[in-house]
Amino acid sequence: MMDLKKFERYKDDFLKNLKPSKVSEAMAYVLDGGQRIRTRLLLSILEGHGIPVERGFSCALALEMIHAYSLIHDDLPCMDDDDMRRGKASCHIAFGEAIAVLTGDALLTDSFSLIAKDSYLNDHQKLMIIRTYSEEAGSAGMVYGQVLDLANEENDGASYDDVLNIARFKTGCLFKAAAKAAMYIANDEENESFYNRLAEELGEAFQMQDDLFDIIKSSAEMGKPNGSDIREHKATAMKIMNEKALKDDVESRFMAIIDMIRKEKFDQKALIELITWVKDR
Ligand code: IPE
Ligand code: IPE
Ligand code: MG
Ligand code: MG
Ligand code: MG
Repeated sequence: MMDLKKFERYKDDFLKNLKPSKVSEAMAYVLDGGQRIRTRLLLSILEGHGIPVERGFSCALALEMIHAYSLIHDDLPCMDDDDMRRGKASCHIAFGEAIAVLTGDALLTDSFSLIAKDSYLNDHQKLMIIRTYSEEAGSAGMVYGQVLDLANEENDGASYDDVLNIARFKTGCLFKAAAKAAMYIANDEENESFYNRLAEELGEAFQMQDDLFDIIKSSAEMGKPNGSDIREHKATAMKIMNEKALKDDVESRFMAIIDMIRKEKFDQKALIELITWVKDR
């Protein structure tokens, strides 16, 4: 797997330059840990195009910040009410709800200036990536998915398509942000449909796998509470399929993604390694 030591150092430098406050402390707290899957997706695509991965660091960190904000808010008592994240106390448990809400606000807002001031990117790239992040994270993107997720709590009649649709937005949209940032940095806009499809299918497979893990993996393994979806009566893939059927479905979805990547012209080694690692976690 790709070594992210340099990226983590870049993140630490960014954190060191924040104005000291409870919020900047909480930003450092939530940005520590995690699998960095969105970062790895972005950087693997760059590597496949022969572009130095450092060129993607600002966009990868910006996206990790948006992702971390979405997790802080997702864990709040008014949403999933989860007290553990990345193997430690959730942000609102460690810092209180008010600072947790503000930390989410700060992470989202600061993500955009990080991209805007990156000297590696030209103005077209900055504009298109900021626009993409805003659209994929916003009211028609990830936030829309979270609205659907909440609206379908207690919905025992949710179908396979309903579950896929929730996944497409709440999870797929941030994968799309990663894939398209890489596309803009690699100047590969002519292959936009590939990046869209990759992110959409990865979002579905990944969220269905996450729904499976909520049941079959322990809190210690996942670093977040096991059984949270059942407690909150979520409309997840586990609610409409048995464990064996869902495992098979997830496996074949990841295999289909690998097949799709193999048809592309760039060097796919890093990307296929990443997808295989996510599949086999
Ligand atoms: C968790 O995402 C939220 C979902 C979309 C299921 P990750 O599983 O990528 O979380 P981290 O970043 O590794 O903590
Ligand atoms: C989270 O979905 C999606 C977002 C935060 C946008 P989940 O609620 O399933 O994520 P986990 O299981 O808490 O990580
Ligand atoms: Mg949730
Ligand atoms: Mg949750
Ligand atoms: Mg989950």
